[in-house]
Amino acid sequence: MSPVLQRTPGGAILLDGLRLRDESLANIKATIANAGGPKICLTTVLIGDDPPSHVYVNSKHKKAQEVGMVSRGINLPATATQAQVEDVVAELVADDSVHGILVQLPLPKHIDTEAILRLLPAEKDVDGLTEKSMGRLVRGIKGHVPCTPLGVFRLLQRYEIGTKGKRVVVIGRSTLVGLPQMLLLVRRGVDATVTVAHSSTHDILEVCRESDIIIAAAGSARMVTAAHVKPGATVIDVGVTRINGKTVGDVDFDAVQAIAGAITPMPGGTGPMTIACLLENTLEAARMLNAI
Ligand code: GUN
Repeated sequence: MSPVLQRTPGGAILLDGLRLRDESLANIKATIANAGGPKICLTTVLIGDDPPSHVYVNSKHKKAQEVGMVSRGINLPATATQAQVEDVVAELVADDSVHGILVQLPLPKHIDTEAILRLLPAEKDVDGLTEKSMGRLVRGIKGHVPCTPLGVFRLLQRYEIGTKGKRVVVIGRSTLVGLPQMLLLVRRGVDATVTVAHSSTHDILEVCRESDIIIAAAGSARMVTAAHVKPGATVIDVGVTRINGKTVGDVDFDAVQAIAGAITPMPGGTGPMTIACLLENTLEAARMLNAI
């Protein structure tokens, strides 16, 4: 089944993340209902009062409940100590009724993030951010893939955008997006030729212009312009920058949509897919733990 194609004024296919998210959530909801409604629990750990983090976590809870999952939120004050955070996470790890654990990042500066993430077993690491999950991705072992790059991959699959032998540039090398995105796309069976560009890359314009797919995850507002895009290329925007209260992506959408063959809107592109993939991973966590 191919999705109903919507196009931009310039004729590019709109990669509709809201639509695909809703499709994906409906599938997850049906899977849980068909299994007799097992209690699948996603628990988030949020430390401090960073407003965007609260918004993200709230929307994760809302969607988890919509698909029939149990969602629990643990909020700790910004003054929480390393030991307190570790105790909370260790309790969730030991709790058989909890299937997925998400520690919202960034953590306050006095907290050692790696030491916290290291406590999570691969099965419950539904964010796919720990060294165990990353190692599994590198080694090709079943595990959870970070939600944002997985969401980008799901968009490419759903819109049947071929990757075999294609040139892809991922702009940004974060552990949250850029690096796992590269790993996902070079895997056997996906077979893209991937360049990871970053702030020290020479000739980024040329690198982008040679690419069949551009995935912009640099967090640099509207850095991908029409001049970066080969006619007909696919352009995916993962960037989020807040400017005067407005969310701005890494792609200059208005200019680029006139040249691209397919493009994500911002908002409504990769953001909604991150949540869909978190719930996909949580369902998979429940399967790994024999809860469904
Ligand atoms: N902060 C921003 N994005 C994310 C995410 O996908 N997962 C976590 N844990 N923290 C984030």
